[in-house]
Formats: sequence, C-alpha cells, structure tokens
Amino acid sequence: MSDNFPEPRHEESAGNGLTRRTFLGMTLAAGGTLLAGGSTKILAATSASTSPSTSSTWRLGGDLLVHRLGFGAMRLTGEGIWGWPADRNNALKVLRRAVELGVNLIDTADAYGPEVDELLIAEALYPYPKGLVIATKGGNTRPGPGQWVPNGRPEYLKGCVDKSLKRLRLERIELYQLHRIDPKVPLEESLGALKEMEGAGKIRHVGLSEVTPEEIARARKVLPIVSVQNQYNINNRKWERTLVYCKKEGLGFMPWSPIGGSRGLREREPLEAAARDNHATVAQLALAWLLHRSPVMLPIPGTSSVAHLEENVAAATISLTSAEWQKIDALANQA
Ligand SMILES: NC(=O)c1ccc[n+]([C@@H]2O[C@H](COP(=O)([O-])OP(=O)(O)OC[C@H]3O[C@@H](n4cnc5c(N)ncnc54)[C@H](OP(=O)(O)O)[C@@H]3O)[C@@H](O)[C@H]2O)c1
Repeated sequence: MSDNFPEPRHEESAGNGLTRRTFLGMTLAAGGTLLAGGSTKILAATSASTSPSTSSTWRLGGDLLVHRLGFGAMRLTGEGIWGWPADRNNALKVLRRAVELGVNLIDTADAYGPEVDELLIAEALYPYPKGLVIATKGGNTRPGPGQWVPNGRPEYLKGCVDKSLKRLRLERIELYQLHRIDPKVPLEESLGALKEMEGAGKIRHVGLSEVTPEEIARARKVLPIVSVQNQYNINNRKWERTLVYCKKEGLGFMPWSPIGGSRGLREREPLEAAARDNHATVAQLALAWLLHRSPVMLPIPGTSSVAHLEENVAAATISLTSAEWQKIDALANQA
C-alpha cells in the first residue's frame, strides 16, 4: 500500500491536428506566458537552449508519438477517488486546458471514480483531437472510497475493456494497462485476456503497473509490453531497478506520484532552496528532474487545478546544466 495513496500493490499505488512542432510550440509558449516575471530559467528555456531531454517526445509502442510530460486524470474525481467532483465544470476545464497546452498523453483508469474519470474525459474532450492518447487501466475494483482490490480474472478484464471503450467513446484503446497483478490469478491468464482484446482490435498496446523487471519479462512472454506505470519520484526511487530495465528494453516508464501524491514530497527544504535558486517551484523541479532522469520517463502529474496544471506543464521547459542537476540530486538524496 502506498504511503500517500490508497491503491494497493501489496507492498507499496495532440490533437487538433497538432504536429510535433506546433505541439511543442504551444507548450513552450505556455511556459513563457504563464511564468512571465516568475522564472528566468523557464523563460530562457523557450529559446533554442531548451534541453531536448526535457521537451522531447516518446513513441509509445514505437508508433504513438506523445509529449513526455503527460497528465494524470485521477485527481479530477471526488474525495477518496470516489464519485463525481464537487465542481464538475472545473474538472472539464482542467482536461480541456491540458490538451490546449499540448499535453497528448492522459492517464486514467476504470477504477477512478469508479467510471467517473473516463466519463469526464469523454465529456470534456470527445470528439478527440487527432494524436491524443488516452491510456486507461483495468483490473482493480473499488468496493468503496479509498478501497482498491485487484481482479485479474480473464472474463472480468475483457468486460472491463468493453466498458472502458463505451465510456470513453473509443473504438480502440491506444494503451490499456493492467492496473495490478492479481495474486490470485496467474499473470499469463490475465494477459491472455488482454491479448485476445488486442487481437480483436479493441486495444492497441498493453502496459503494466507496479511491477518488477522479472514480472515484466514474464509478461512479455505472453504479449508485447510497451509501458510500465510505477510509483517513482525524486524522493522515492524504490522502483529504480524497473526504471533501469525499461530504459534498457526501450519501454516507456510512467511514474505515478511524480510530485509526491496528495501529501507532496517529503523533506521539502533542500528542494525548496534549489527551486528558489532556479526560479521554479518544487513541483516543477521534481517534474523536470524526472524528465532529465531518463529518456523513457513519461511523468503523469495529477491535479484538479488549472493553475497547478499550467505550472506543471511549464516544467517541461526547465533547462539546467548537468552540474545543477547533480547538486539537486544530491540534495534530494539527503532528504
Ligand atoms: N498506477 C497506479 O497504481 C497509480 C496510482 C496512483 C496514481 N496513478 C496515476 O498517476 C497520476 C499522478 O499521481 P498522483 O495524483 O497520485 O500524484 P501527483 O501527481 O504526484 O500529485 C498530485 C497531488 O499534487 C497536487 N498538485 C499537483 N500539482 C501541484 C502543484 N503544481 N503545486 C502543488 N500541488 C500540486 C494535487 O493537488 P491539486 O489537485 O490541489 O493540484 C494532488 O493532490 C494520477 O492522476 C493517476 O493517473 C496511478
């Protein structure tokens, strides 16, 4: 169980015809506009000095081009990731603003709400702009607010895929992630069901969540795996081995809780000092650190606030030298 989010892993939890150029251009312009007067580093990053590692794109599964800084939609649901948000219009605004800013990778799950998150995404964004990748998940059930119980039974998972397709109003889900390996069901059986859904054209690519390199290797014997979603941030690197595996094997790594989840990052003081020195916020620094950390890193920060979303997206334009990153890394490691 996560220390800051109630999802269990038994141990822990572009659309409008945008080309890559306009997509990045919008994001970079947003960085300049949003933080004018606040961040020389970020404004400087709108020039040619922008580090490719922080503003680059990634081809999920080799064919879906996404900006590496995505958006996690889980925080748009009600308290305890349960039910509708108190301000539904605000949730719709956040989603539309994310796409406007150039985000084209949105992470969700049938378990968020449950169902509510996928419905909100469709309500806000359907008909979807070309190039938008909605990555959803199945295999985690919700007996109540704050409760999460894996179910990896093949028939259940196949039903999940069909229901997500309907809620999201999609003919095919570009990235379908097994939310949790169910300890009661052999992984091969759960993935066999997703392979069948892939064969039926209902899923394009498959990803995993909260997995070790050994589990990924086992899964890859059943079908190709294109991404992994594990908890990871500047203060919490327990899944480092999985990140190293993903880099070696060319799989996307989507760190959840990239800015520390609902409790935020711990021991903020050194990070706050570094953020001040770099005219950025701690959240921005944490996101830029992730993007710098590995070319396979696809952070999916979540927020229910347009202002935080704008701040987070602008983090993709932060450009620091290797020496500056080393200093920040050392500070965070001491925390
Ligand atoms: N695979 C899994 O098991 C799993 C588990 C958990 C989450 N996820 C996915 O990962 C995504 C991100 O994870 P997460 O939401 O737990 O963690 P997170 O993105 O690290 O943190 C989200 C929290 O930080 C706050 N926040 C966001 N931007 C901020 C900013 N600029 N300044 C200050 N506070 C800010 C948000 O509050 P406000 O709303 O007030 O901004 C929210 O409470 C989720 O949306 C979901 O898609 C996956």
